[in-house]
Amino acid sequence: MTGVDHEALVAMLDRLKLTAIRDQLDTLLDEAARSDMTLREALAFLVRREIARRDERRIAMASKIAQFPFVRELDGFEFDAQPSLDPRQIRELATCRWIAHGDMVLFLGPPGTGKTHLAVALGREAIRQTYSVQFVTAATLVAMLAKAHDDGVLDKQLTILARPKLLIIDELGYLPFEANAAHLFFQLVSRRYERGSILITSNRSVGEWGSVFGDAVVATAILDRLLHHSTVITIRGDSYRLREKRRSGLLQKAGSALETEGATKQ
Ligand SMILES: Nc1ncnc2c1ncn2[C@@H]1O[C@H](COP(=O)(O)OP(=O)(O)O)[C@@H](O)[C@H]1O
Ligand SMILES: [Mg+2]
Repeated sequence: MTGVDHEALVAMLDRLKLTAIRDQLDTLLDEAARSDMTLREALAFLVRREIARRDERRIAMASKIAQFPFVRELDGFEFDAQPSLDPRQIRELATCRWIAHGDMVLFLGPPGTGKTHLAVALGREAIRQTYSVQFVTAATLVAMLAKAHDDGVLDKQLTILARPKLLIIDELGYLPFEANAAHLFFQLVSRRYERGSILITSNRSVGEWGSVFGDAVVATAILDRLLHHSTVITIRGDSYRLREKRRSGLLQKAGSALETEGATKQ
């Protein structure tokens, strides 16, 4: 670094907004010198640091915008605990090819079987691959649409909800929809159809969606669009939470009233 003033170098990095390199300048240069890098290797080493920092920030910011309810990754998912799932199928989804094509994904299964975990983990994967993601519960979504409709701004709201490349709608079916809500939901699905992906989690099988939407005709129209280019993953088995509790001895084996968590246990 002979002839190059440290302050001047920092000022230049600052000007180029290379803040990761700027903040760790001495450490990085020492490391490059220690490991006998060529100039080309050293430059790649520094630039990689800068890119890593930017990716980290971008992912943090996009995850905040996505409004995930919690942080979950695929790495933290125990496939052994959920034998009804094919890990290869989930890994295929993690490539995000389906998002590139604007396809749909449905995770169906009883509560506590990891549907939201997988939805969030896939959402984060999508963000890593620079897709925009929005997470919303079905109840919140329907309330948003109903309010927009009442306020005469439904079209604007639908445009906003059509923007993210992946829309995750969690917990469809926990609450039955009102008749108008089913129509609003249909409009959303139509607006996004073949443009942007939707990932839906539901504790109800598609056969029960007629009663969820309170209207068999609308439910069929919604399913028609959702299932056209889709992957449907049905999870069977016990709630992971209860399994953990049972393991730690807090719950007796089988037969507990809590066991079904109010769900359709299979
Ligand atoms: N197979 C699994 N491996 C690791 N954690 C799991 C698994 N299944 C569920 N969990 C955890 O159990 C909790 C409940 O799972 P969640 O995804 O919310 O279930 P669901 O949405 O199906 O009701 C979450 O904290 C989740 O991370
Ligand atoms: Mg859930």
